[in-house]
Amino acid sequence: MAEPSAPPILEVDGLHSGYGDVPVLKGLDFAVDSEVFAILGANGAGKTTLLATLARLLPVTDGSIRLGGKDVTAHPASETARLGIGYVPQEAAIFPDLTVFENLSIGGMIGERPLEQGLEEVFETFPDLRDKVGLRAGDLSGGESRMVACGRALMQDPSVLLLDEPTAGLSPLYVELFFQKIAEIHSGRGVTIVLTEQNATLALGVADRVMVLSLGLGSEVMTAADVTTDRLKEAYKL
Ligand SMILES: Nc1ncnc2c1ncn2[C@@H]1O[C@H](COP(=O)(O)OP(=O)(O)OP(=O)(O)O)[C@@H](O)[C@H]1O
Ligand SMILES: [Mg+2]
Repeated sequence: MAEPSAPPILEVDGLHSGYGDVPVLKGLDFAVDSEVFAILGANGAGKTTLLATLARLLPVTDGSIRLGGKDVTAHPASETARLGIGYVPQEAAIFPDLTVFENLSIGGMIGERPLEQGLEEVFETFPDLRDKVGLRAGDLSGGESRMVACGRALMQDPSVLLLDEPTAGLSPLYVELFFQKIAEIHSGRGVTIVLTEQNATLALGVADRVMVLSLGLGSEVMTAADVTTDRLKEAYKL
């Protein structure tokens, strides 16, 4: 008998979500495997809403979210974090008044891994942070503070990392460095990456596959190598 194929790492079916009476996501279907998966979309398209919903910080009004085949739709955020979802929000991703060490330690409180081991992994990925552990996180540069936010999520030893516009506002050199790090986290540690990005060209440089959010719905999922301007325009409904 053939082995049943493994369920997708993350699977979203008919997902509806929003804020009180304001519906934002109106029936999303997609599945993510071990890859870098980018969600594109204009301002206000619902990218942040989608990631916050996947992290279980916003209520699902209809549909389901499965993680490795396990239905996590009704799980609180603390439980999905324990099950392997790391989330780096677009804003307020660090505790500015705490030190870098304290910020990272907070991520380390989730999961079983010894703190030292988690810290070592974070410093391997972001060596610049090693000398900054004692600094107040709010005093770091924009790029360094992104590293801390990402490092805090890595401390959880996640299987899936949700990154909301990880390079927004960074200088071009930092953008390149950061996308390189994201690719390394995926290829070196086997972490599945789901990121949002407004700039399609940038996303196509790092992602294996992309999906465009528009009008509360998702486009077909496209393999980055096969994306053409026409397909993108159609996906953005331009
Ligand atoms: N707290 C909130 N209450 C009500 N509506 C909200 C709230 N946050 C966001 N929205 C609305 O939800 C929609 C989607 O917003 P969201 O932040 O998810 O978009 P986005 O794609 O992340 O945009 P951006 O690229 O600007 O970050 C917008 O119309 C926005 O006004
Ligand atoms: Mg957003």
